[in-house]
Amino acid sequence: MKKIAVVEGDGIGREVVPVARKVVEVFLPDADYIEVEIGFEKWKRDKTACGDEEIEQLKNSDAILFGAVTTPPDPDYRSVMVQIRKTLDLYSNIRPVKGKNTDIIIVRENTEGLYSGIEWREEDRACTLRVISRKGSTRIARMACRIAGRRKHLTVGHKGNVLKSDTLFRECCIDEAIASGIEFSEEYIDSLCYNILMHPERYDVIVTTNIFGDILSDAAAYLAGGLGMLPSANIGDHNALFEPVHGSAPDIAGKGIANPVAAIRSAGMLLEYLGVAFAPSIIEDAISLAVTDGIATPDLGGKYGTIEFGDKILSYIEKNLN
Ligand code: NAI
Ligand code: MG
Repeated sequence: MKKIAVVEGDGIGREVVPVARKVVEVFLPDADYIEVEIGFEKWKRDKTACGDEEIEQLKNSDAILFGAVTTPPDPDYRSVMVQIRKTLDLYSNIRPVKGKNTDIIIVRENTEGLYSGIEWREEDRACTLRVISRKGSTRIARMACRIAGRRKHLTVGHKGNVLKSDTLFRECCIDEAIASGIEFSEEYIDSLCYNILMHPERYDVIVTTNIFGDILSDAAAYLAGGLGMLPSANIGDHNALFEPVHGSAPDIAGKGIANPVAAIRSAGMLLEYLGVAFAPSIIEDAISLAVTDGIATPDLGGKYGTIEFGDKILSYIEKNLN
């Protein structure tokens, strides 16, 4: 039996994950669902946001469905998401962006770069070390080439003109693309942020470093109708975690209006990973039908809540499966 860890987390994570979980349950009713509490709310109570026990539960799962966690900008608080990605070595962050004239997969390195965790505060200076390794760059380049191999083209996004660390990243990606026979080009990340919005049709698979991929994908969310629409997978050699690209959205949390699509699409990626290959297309059809019916949350111009929108999508999924 498949073991699926379910982490709602904080804020709107607690609103969108129950909807996404229902979608997973339709396809895998007999899986073992293990609820794991992680996040800032837990930290406020227990003084730990994610302990050893929670990490073990995540490690022992076949897949993790994750909402979002709040990370306060407090020098004494360590990001749980960064901790989980590093501890489980979930080195590939895969972020598909679909919209009008847009069908892009952003492949973001997920364990090093500016999120190395090697940083310190002094009185009048603060430093974060940007670490780029050959091993880290080569394995993410290999993942991107594997994905690009089933598609058309790879773009390497970097800032090697200014950052020495990115000259290594660039070399590793280009070496890997040549070795795999993948058609590729390269672009400086700032120009890439501009061109992805101006000419999304130019891009297919994009590989980049940790923080550049984080920023690029939030910007690219515009092409997909907003952050409420973008799913992601965090994949390592032993574990995989699926979560919306968005965070806990404190500005709308508790109002019942968060768009559940990003979480539902993440559930689709989880199902595909667990071998239910037909799930994503059924889920996509159901989302389109619900939106065509005019059932949508306010971020998409609708007037419905998370639950109504989610239930409508769910009903189309069930109809299609029966
Ligand atoms: P955010 O992604 O939570 O929100 C950005 C904006 O998009 C907000 O205006 C929000 O209302 C809107 N938005 C996001 N998701 C939405 C949805 N499903 N439906 C409708 N509107 C949506 O990013 P923000 O505000 O920068 O971060 C809030 C908290 O989330 C912070 O504590 C941050 O550290 C954390 N965060 C956690 C992530 C994770 O757990 N993987 C990822 C990103 C942020
Ligand atoms: Mg982000």
